[in-house]
Amino acid sequence: MEHAEVRRMPNAHVWPISASVVHERLQIASCDLAALAAEYGTPLYLLDAETIRTIAMRYSAALRHAYGSNVSIHYASKALLNVGVARLVHSLGLGLDVVSGGELAIAQRAGMPLDHVHLHGNGTPPAELAQAVEAGIGRIVVDNLDQLKWLADYCAKRPTPQTILLRIAPDVTAGAHAHIRTGAASAKFGMPLDDGTAAEAVRLALQAPGLNLVGLHAHIGSQMRDWAALREMIGRLLAFADQQRRERSWLLTEFSPGGGLAVAYMPNEQAGDIETYANTIANAVRLGCERYQIPLPRLIIEPGRSLVARAGVALYSVTGHKTVVGGSDYLHIDGGMGDNLRPSLYNAQYTAALVARPCAPPIAPVQLAGRFCESGDVLIREVALPAAEVGELVAVPVAGAYTLSMASAYNGVPRPALVLLDRGQAMLIQRRETYADLMARDI
Ligand SMILES: Cc1ncc(COP(=O)(O)O)c(C=O)c1O
Repeated sequence: MEHAEVRRMPNAHVWPISASVVHERLQIASCDLAALAAEYGTPLYLLDAETIRTIAMRYSAALRHAYGSNVSIHYASKALLNVGVARLVHSLGLGLDVVSGGELAIAQRAGMPLDHVHLHGNGTPPAELAQAVEAGIGRIVVDNLDQLKWLADYCAKRPTPQTILLRIAPDVTAGAHAHIRTGAASAKFGMPLDDGTAAEAVRLALQAPGLNLVGLHAHIGSQMRDWAALREMIGRLLAFADQQRRERSWLLTEFSPGGGLAVAYMPNEQAGDIETYANTIANAVRLGCERYQIPLPRLIIEPGRSLVARAGVALYSVTGHKTVVGGSDYLHIDGGMGDNLRPSLYNAQYTAALVARPCAPPIAPVQLAGRFCESGDVLIREVALPAAEVGELVAVPVAGAYTLSMASAYNGVPRPALVLLDRGQAMLIQRRETYADLMARDI
């Protein structure tokens, strides 16, 4: 019997944990990618369950080791959400963060217990706040004074108080790009400390019979590797909690100090370390709580990107070439900014490999040109690949986060399908959009 020759993918750290090269072809979770592309078409998004499971377990173990059992991990569903993904994260014991009534509806359809769901959002319309309250959502993370006043009013008539946290703008930022830094006092998110807004929010919340204020939340940015910023933000929030305890006898019992851990998109990058992240947060919270003699609150973290990015791989078909005099040639593919807006939005960088020859030596660098009618739709500005034939499959790794969740049907191109891969099994968890879907709202 012939034995399959199995090797690790080069630059394995940017591919799903289950990726391997078998008979010189890229496989994920022992699934043949060419067969999946033939069955579901391209562009096709693949999601490796083993990667998500492994990362979720690392977060859980690291946080428990560093802080004890009074911890919750909520998946920030803005990174990637559909019913299948919500079910998967629920099966791993995680809660969910949602930012809209739509994400909440998906969580409900997935059977996620609503006390494990938190709602965030700076511009959440009142109807969606009401939807969350009526559904019995676990926590609302209140972003601003107007939202707080609206909720206080709405919940005053209800039999049970709505549990809330306050989102603080700590005036500490981190993150790889201005668009993903969320913690400045001038950012649109959260209530500043220095101008008294945060203190006013505590005062109003404590006066509201329909609200139960249990904690504070902050988020300083995504793609974060800045431990000092994380520590500083935690210190500021705990100092504020101490002040509020002294002035209003309010005790912080839940604490959600955020900043999304960086993932490696490119072979020369390293992902932020989960254990260091958990230790940094846990130690800073312990230290601050000891200093102010606050009993340790429940610690909540809400990873999005770092949980799903590496699990995702986008498969595209090569549709043509263009030779450029004095520049890199283009390789045209059948997807682009419609399914992955990040390169156009933040200059995000990706790498790629040919599915049938992932280890073949590259020739000259090429540009991977998206199919959409924008000059800026170049998925990768420079990637060294072997000469690719029309019809060949190109795989782009680290495609699980902020890709499909930001996808559009621009140019009338239906959004791709998503297939969950797990130990040799492939499950279609979101079908490709159809032309009928594109017209479903047209009257
Ligand atoms: C409030 C909040 N929570 C969680 C996240 C998820 O961050 P990440 O995807 O970097 O883990 C974000 C992202 O910006 C956020 O704003």
